[in-house]
Amino acid sequence: MANQNLGDAKRAKNDEFYTQYHDIEKEMNAYLDYNQDVFRDKTVLLPCDDPEWSNFTKYFAQNFERLGLKKLISTSYAPNSKPRELNIQPTLFELESPQFDESKSAANGKIYTLTQDLNNDNVVNVEDLEWSYLEGDGDFRSEEISALRDESDIVVTNPPFSLFRDFMSWISSGGKDFAIIGNMNGITYKETFPLIQQNKVWLGATNFNTGMYFTVPDGFTYASTYKFDREQNGRAVNRVPGVCWFTNLDHGRRHQPLPLMTESDNVKFSKHKEIKGVGYRKYDNYDAIDVPFTDAIPSDYQGVMGVPISFLGKYSPEQFEILGTSDNGLVDDLLKSTPGLTAAFVEAYYASGGKGAYKAGNPTAGIYADGVATMVYKRIFIRHRGPNK
Ligand SMILES: C[S@@+](CC[C@H](N)C(=O)[O-])C[C@H]1O[C@@H](n2cnc3c(N)ncnc32)[C@H](O)[C@@H]1O
Repeated sequence: MANQNLGDAKRAKNDEFYTQYHDIEKEMNAYLDYNQDVFRDKTVLLPCDDPEWSNFTKYFAQNFERLGLKKLISTSYAPNSKPRELNIQPTLFELESPQFDESKSAANGKIYTLTQDLNNDNVVNVEDLEWSYLEGDGDFRSEEISALRDESDIVVTNPPFSLFRDFMSWISSGGKDFAIIGNMNGITYKETFPLIQQNKVWLGATNFNTGMYFTVPDGFTYASTYKFDREQNGRAVNRVPGVCWFTNLDHGRRHQPLPLMTESDNVKFSKHKEIKGVGYRKYDNYDAIDVPFTDAIPSDYQGVMGVPISFLGKYSPEQFEILGTSDNGLVDDLLKSTPGLTAAFVEAYYASGGKGAYKAGNPTAGIYADGVATMVYKRIFIRHRGPNK
């Protein structure tokens, strides 16, 4: 139980990562480049935020007029609901506001709204934000915040990492436009993958291969293995690998087809030693070939191909069809050449020193690589859409 509590505390602490302004601006610019009116006359909700220091609130408030927003709403989570060791105290701004209420300051979330020029300086911006305490603690799952979701047109945030699944269900059940940050492992969650497959959700425009740096609270303890920047722009930061935007706002990158070589050219010229002179292997349990690198997808292969999940950062729905994933068993039986890993394959895997817990029937993709039974990390199954060249 003590361990469980420690785990929960660690997870909750890792939820306190704050997004940098330029990362928000870069992604929003991609939506604006595709459709300059994407935010026009829209109500934008920023839940799970801390409006007093959030760059999401800052970005949308500063750009309120340029984006043509109708209304901006931003909500925060109550200090008492956050990990205690953060020791969050009311800011001077809150303490000096006429609406400061000691009985609510720690237990309630806050709501900030922006609709009009309140201070008569002829511009609607961050100076015109109004705030009050929420009735509850600002939990996105509450009725109060769900009603704000229902009132809004677009939801943008970096939700708590530990609640990504719940957030994905919450946002998709609201039927709203959204752009949210999450770990790319979320791609194959059952809450996300079917939506990606149906082109109802896709990855944002920002390339996520380099990881994203978030600002972290004072006293943040780095993992002993951490070897990246600890400070950027004078603020303590932590790099999180494999973070991407999940969205249903369109952008140009997803309509650019990947330039590819034919199968025979890949075998002749690929920069990957796994492909050059070797070619592509078929899975033992799927009727598909394994393509371990996105840039090694053969342009003329007619059948089904298994690619790494990072492929989605390059995915164009006009070029490819997504058929399933080897993770979570989210794949049509038609693609399976056996109903899962075979007993013989699992036995061969352990006989050659394989680790982990695999059982016959598991959906994990397996390959005999040079005769050795090998488990292949999460794959997405795709097929070319058009006639191939
Ligand atoms: C990853 S941080 C991001 C904060 C901010 N959106 C940003 O990017 O700068 C997630 C925030 O959600 C808050 N949070 C955690 N659980 C929550 C919940 N159930 N409902 C609403 N907010 C929550 C955390 O306290 C934290 O402030």
